[in-house]
Amino acid sequence: MVTLSVIKADIGSLPGHVRAPSKLVDRVRGVLEDGKSDGVLIDYYVGCCGDDIDLVMSHDHGVDSEEVHSLAWDAFQEGTEFAKELGLYGAGQDLLSDAFSGNVKGLGPGSAEMEFDERESEPILVFLCDKTSPSAFNYPLFKMFADPFSTSGLVLDPSLHEGFDFEILDYYEGDTATLSCPEEMYDILSLLGIVSKYSIESVSKKDGRPAAVVSTEKLNLMAGEYVGKDDPVAVVRCQSGFPAVGEALEAFSFPHLVPGWMRGSHNGPLMPVSEEDATPTRFDGPPRVVALGFQLNNGKLEGPRDLFDDPSFNTARKKANEAAEYMRNHGPFQPHLLSEDELEYTTVPKVLEKLENRFK
Ligand code: F6R
Ligand code: MG
Ligand code: MG
Repeated sequence: MVTLSVIKADIGSLPGHVRAPSKLVDRVRGVLEDGKSDGVLIDYYVGCCGDDIDLVMSHDHGVDSEEVHSLAWDAFQEGTEFAKELGLYGAGQDLLSDAFSGNVKGLGPGSAEMEFDERESEPILVFLCDKTSPSAFNYPLFKMFADPFSTSGLVLDPSLHEGFDFEILDYYEGDTATLSCPEEMYDILSLLGIVSKYSIESVSKKDGRPAAVVSTEKLNLMAGEYVGKDDPVAVVRCQSGFPAVGEALEAFSFPHLVPGWMRGSHNGPLMPVSEEDATPTRFDGPPRVVALGFQLNNGKLEGPRDLFDDPSFNTARKKANEAAEYMRNHGPFQPHLLSEDELEYTTVPKVLEKLENRFK
């Protein structure tokens, strides 16, 4: 068995919340290199999407491994010290605690982990987002694993034809339910469409083999108050019984609207971009997604290929820019603005207090 762990955090960026600078990424990478030399990791890649640093790590310690989580924590701690030295914006913003207690969960970083038997050939995609929330993956993962108009293999390939199971998280209650697709497709959709409450946590084959996993930590709910972003990551296995690489990517050809963007308080299109172009600038956005493609080879990460760095996604980017323009024209009005209970910044309570005797 091999485990793939993607652990991510925003530990500082430049200018403002735009991009983690490469010298900060280098510093974090150094800690993982030591972890590899010490035998904690088989291999690693350090990716970057906007102000988030994403640690892609392969190892044989299983999910929730203390060794791996503490290595990631050390990398972010050391990075935070350096981010402070560099005077970066939001240095250490996602590290909510000074004390590591065996697992990064609840401490601020997001994580998506999967343990599986490596197939003879194991193509893996890692999706990295910035300026949005885990539910941004509801639409594309549904398309990938349930929509035959997007993934033709669901119709054509006997090894995909039985469908997949979806584990859905109610992130206010913290509970998950597993629903079977296509049998319960309409029930799945009636939940997944409510992106302010439900997120896909994982997808699996009907025989239980993992197919996809999403980091579902909601920083704002975890800390009881808004403390940072939860820009998610997802891992997807591809080919031979799973969606083809191109079917998985096809799910991002429509830049659907996701919550996040400026001040985590606006709906905007999710723009598929290369790692290089993951620099959310217009109105701190629009929200971005990067796709990194690897081949696992006895746990070693061959790659990555930067998959949205391709002209076939130009139309999606153009549509995203047009949608961004359209949404921006709403200014502070809904539905560009999120609903009142989803706002990460608001003046409403103060305004109402001031106007206390004016509503008659
Ligand atoms: C959204 C994001 C930014 C900030 C905005 C205000 O996820 O990171 O849009 O919310 O730049 O940031 P502060 O409050 O740090 O000035
Ligand atoms: Mg930031
Ligand atoms: Mg971010």
